[in-house]
Amino acid sequence: SLPLKVGMFGGGTVGGGVYEIMEQTKKELFKAGGVDVTIAKICVRDVNKKRSFELEKHTTMVTDYDEILEDDSINCVVELMGGVTHAKDVVFKALKKGKHVVTANKALLAQLLPEVKSLVAENAGTTLGYEAAVCGGIPIIHNMQGSYVGDSIQSVMGIMNGTTNFMLTKMETEGADYAAVLKEAQDLGFAEADPTADVEGHDVQAKIALLAKLAFGQDVALDKVPCAGISNLSSTDFACAKMMGCTIKLVGTAALGESKDKLAVFVSPVLVPLGGPLASTRGPGNVVVVRSENLTESVYAGPGAGRYPTANSVVNDIVRLARLGAAGTPPPFPLERPLELEPDFEACF
Ligand code: NDP
Ligand code: HSE
Repeated sequence: SLPLKVGMFGGGTVGGGVYEIMEQTKKELFKAGGVDVTIAKICVRDVNKKRSFELEKHTTMVTDYDEILEDDSINCVVELMGGVTHAKDVVFKALKKGKHVVTANKALLAQLLPEVKSLVAENAGTTLGYEAAVCGGIPIIHNMQGSYVGDSIQSVMGIMNGTTNFMLTKMETEGADYAAVLKEAQDLGFAEADPTADVEGHDVQAKIALLAKLAFGQDVALDKVPCAGISNLSSTDFACAKMMGCTIKLVGTAALGESKDKLAVFVSPVLVPLGGPLASTRGPGNVVVVRSENLTESVYAGPGAGRYPTANSVVNDIVRLARLGAAGTPPPFPLERPLELEPDFEACF
């Protein structure tokens, strides 16, 4: 096992949850498996803000990034600030300093994937965990990294945003008002700091790009992923969907064409049949359906957003690293595989 001294960036919805879970379970984890993890420093914007958690004696709260990044005793950085600009500075510098990184930041990873991959490769011995970046609490990344090595994936699709699924569920079942239900999702800690990314589909765009990378080896630039969100939907759309025995879900899809050399990746609200796995996914729940040659169809479902489900995934990455070390964990991303991105995505079906 690898003793980890962690510097965490962010002590909000997810960061607070990670701190609480780690502090509650650390003694048990040590006793049971020698897992030795200490969150030594937490970097936030405002150290005087009231938090949902009490700081233990072994943890200091800081605002200066270098208190963590220049501290050679810290070997693992957990980035839970969100956004791209500052998070990029933190993640890139941490990797360059030879520190392991765990992040929940899909926007950063999807926008800067080539650079992130190069940095992990160049800084031998470091690794990157990002289980929480896609579908909050569902262990989809670890499954995609490990369970399909002898299989061949044809498509990955599903509901990958908790905020919009929460909103769509309430709009469908209660006729809820769009603005009121968005505010509710924000208050519950599901939404991004700027919820535009949720409702316009950009959050799913980043997540499906990451899943496409894991499933097909292809780096997918976000501007090559056609994307429509839910901000134009109204109660009339749900009434029409119902007449057709359907409801409406925001779905991300990455699928190989029949010839297997073309890949279509796109995000859109779609009609899904009532009673099916997508329609039955309610509230902040997410679901991912993977179709592959050996396993035929696998369905991964669970909470897609929220404090403890997401924090649970971050803790899984930290503990997996502490148990197995970087050498024992699967490579964060598969090797590049040349495929043509198919802008005419209908041609793939
Ligand atoms: P919050 O807004 O709740 O928390 C952000 C934290 O980061 C706060 O503690 C804030 O400090 C700190 N922070 C923000 N900017 C800076 C900065 N420039 N310098 C120092 N500290 C900073 O966000 P969440 O916890 O909801 O999200 C964090 C990450 O997790 C994001 O990447 C998000 O996409 C991802 N994620 C979130 C999920 C969720 O359900 N919420 C689910 C899956 C992923 P302060 O408290 O002082 O303001
Ligand atoms: N805002 C995101 C969502 C957080 O609602 O799904 C989880 O990635």
